[in-house]
Amino acid sequence: MKIAGATDDRTPDGRVLVVDDDPIVRRSLMDFLRQEGLSATGAGGAAEALEALDAAAASGRAVDLVLTDVAMPGRDGRELLREVSRRHPATAVVMLTAYGTIEAAVDALRLGAVDFLTKPVLDDELRLAVERGLRHRMLLAENEQLHRQLESRDGLDGLIGQDPAMLRVHELVRAVAPAKTTVLMSGESGTGKSLVARAIHRLSPRSSGPFVELSCGSIPETLLESELFGHVKGAFTGAHTDKIGRFQAAKGGTLFLDEINSASPGMQLKLLRVLQEKRFEAVGSTETIEADARVVLATNQSLEKLIAEGLFREDLYYRINVVKIELPSLRERPGDIPVLAKKFLEHSCAEAGKMITGFDSECLRALGGYRFPGNVRELENIIERAVVLTQNQTLTVADLPAAVAGGASSTAASPVASVSGPWSPAPLSELLREPERAIILRALEANDWNRQQTADDLAINRTTLYKKMRQLGIDAERLAG
Ligand SMILES: Nc1ncnc2c1ncn2[C@@H]1O[C@H](COP(=O)(O)OP(=O)(O)O)[C@@H](O)[C@H]1O
Ligand SMILES: [Mg+2]
Repeated sequence: MKIAGATDDRTPDGRVLVVDDDPIVRRSLMDFLRQEGLSATGAGGAAEALEALDAAAASGRAVDLVLTDVAMPGRDGRELLREVSRRHPATAVVMLTAYGTIEAAVDALRLGAVDFLTKPVLDDELRLAVERGLRHRMLLAENEQLHRQLESRDGLDGLIGQDPAMLRVHELVRAVAPAKTTVLMSGESGTGKSLVARAIHRLSPRSSGPFVELSCGSIPETLLESELFGHVKGAFTGAHTDKIGRFQAAKGGTLFLDEINSASPGMQLKLLRVLQEKRFEAVGSTETIEADARVVLATNQSLEKLIAEGLFREDLYYRINVVKIELPSLRERPGDIPVLAKKFLEHSCAEAGKMITGFDSECLRALGGYRFPGNVRELENIIERAVVLTQNQTLTVADLPAAVAGGASSTAASPVASVSGPWSPAPLSELLREPERAIILRALEANDWNRQQTADDLAINRTTLYKKMRQLGIDAERLAG
């Protein structure tokens, strides 16, 4: 069948399943569809139809359209429709009935049928309905594909950041997610380690399995073993029932061991054992259980340093350091501050039911100049607080905490703040960032934000200027107001 508006290569094969308890009606409908160049199969009832649909889907040749009678013995057409929408949402359903009432038609359409015809069906009517159904199916397929494309490009949804260091993180996450490899993340608190752990799980083949989180520093030594591996009833005083441990709970999914740096020596040893042997026993049980959890770990301190200090087992470190993902601190990627801020603003506004359009340029400057010891989490909190407190349509420095707002004026007053003021050790490249940012901002302002003139003034080319602006989080125009 030729579908109007569709090019040949996008036309679905047109697999139709005819469901009617009357074999004569069924046969005649199938004959008609075959004459139209479609592949048609038949089923005598809802149960048989569902079986056929499941089998077809499982073999990769899903049925495109179901043409079903309403009144049938056993489960009727409406129940079939409901079940098809649930199990095979991409399959279109057209309903046929001998007793057409408006109510029945509305009901069927409400349940998701693409059309509703009254018997005896005219050829033209049927042709049109099938065409519509197949086109609907094709749109759905396209939609699904678009969605998948979006997912694969933006599969790290929620993980914002265009800084090269963040893009590298995205790349690594995408690369390791499909495997069962152990992943070790390092980064300061609030840099997004937990978020990345979830992204790894979501993008992995285990995404439909559980995601179990355990903060290693949080478990009292006495409960350690039971928490990790579970226990059986009566294993020790207080063990009133069997309890499943985290390794077991994460079966088929991902176990996220957070703050591995704060794991006690006992915990480190237990972890080493289970990671090496890949099996364990619940406390009080002799039954050996296979550890089928993908392990992702995070540390907010340098494990190398802890090893040197004798606080972390070197053998465990080698066991877990298979793939390492380092999350950059927010002050190492100030270019991401405006996008993150904007995202958090939208989110907080939705939560608070407020309409705030953006940030004024001074406010953005203050945020861009702040060092964010608490990283992204701190930025998120700052914005959330500002949204709750502000009376304005646009966030201003007045809506920021003093420590952040103060940064704006000190940067503006003294572009080389790190030259004066109290000394705090930091890499030179980082220390130079603030003055560089202030200088570029001054130059931009002096030239009314004309990029070419600014670049000329600074004797750099325009591309370099753009690159620096992005790196330094100078994006005021686009995001202000
Ligand atoms: N790249 C990012 N994009 C969007 N939100 C982020 C990003 N990184 C962190 N966040 C948010 O910041 C907060 C802290 O992140 P989290 O993953 O808990 O950090 P960590 O585990 O490293 O302490 C969370 O609310 C998280 O959603
Ligand atoms: Mg965390």
